[in-house]
Amino acid sequence: MTGSQLSTKHVLGIKYLTEADIRLIFETAENFKEVINRPIKKVPSLRDVTVANLFFENSTRTRLSFELAEKRLSADVVNFSASSSSVKKGETLLDTVNNILSMKVDMVVMRHPAPGAAYFLSQHIDANIINAGDGTHEHPTQALLDAYSMQEQIGDLAGKKIAIFGDILHSRVALSNIFCLQKLGAKVRVCGPPTLIPKHIEKLGVSVSYSVEETMAWCDVANLLRIQLERQDIKFFPSIREYAQYFGINQDIINKSGKKVVIMHPGPINRGVEISSEVADSSDSIILQQVENGVAIRMAILYLLAAKR
Ligand code: NCD
Repeated sequence: MTGSQLSTKHVLGIKYLTEADIRLIFETAENFKEVINRPIKKVPSLRDVTVANLFFENSTRTRLSFELAEKRLSADVVNFSASSSSVKKGETLLDTVNNILSMKVDMVVMRHPAPGAAYFLSQHIDANIINAGDGTHEHPTQALLDAYSMQEQIGDLAGKKIAIFGDILHSRVALSNIFCLQKLGAKVRVCGPPTLIPKHIEKLGVSVSYSVEETMAWCDVANLLRIQLERQDIKFFPSIREYAQYFGINQDIINKSGKKVVIMHPGPINRGVEISSEVADSSDSIILQQVENGVAIRMAILYLLAAKR
């Protein structure tokens, strides 16, 4: 069913990818995963391609993962972070990016606090754009690496039960995961306190539960999300301690489910809040495999977009 090319010249959100695109990215990532496990990890695929990483919001994993992916493909890389740039002097996003493009940049990887920022850029500039997170909206490369990592553990996701726990309301990982998993035929359930679950989310075709025990007993994979405190300007729950008590995932809850559940988290993890240390470090947790797969998935996306130039 997969073609040899993506249907799009940007990766702005999972919403804009087809199932065939997703499967092609996975197949390509499989090859790159083999490459990055070789003693010599570098291939020449992106030689003479210049990629700008524009990070207008904090990031550790995603920024390093993209940079490594670019370097392993032999791209030339320039890095930009908003805190040390002219954005602070009042320049608009479009002016900033056009200035960078004048230096002959071919691809832009961007994280930005405004939902739709990557889409906006794609309407105004010529480079290939990869959305590395736009506010509370989408984080497509995270969802792709998550779904790829799930598939490695439990095989084809069609009909599989995936639960997303935590702050669904403020999470771009949640929305991109929902779109991606549904395109691959999985059943998705979200679980968290009612105040952190968007109203009418059932309209996206997901089920909702407020009980962590019940949801853990239902699912094959549990994707745990951090509370996005930096995006909350009012109180959505009484205290972190109370949240951890009612919605934190500990080994007891998993044991009570009576089965094996794959435990995932996009990071950064808050030990003792949404996930106990025992769970994070257990053999059911694939948190570090997700990080490894992230580089292969991003190499695949860069490679496939470069082929569209
Ligand atoms: C996520 C993000 O930035 O949205 N992190 C990541 O990319 N690894 C999730 C988060 O910050 O909680």
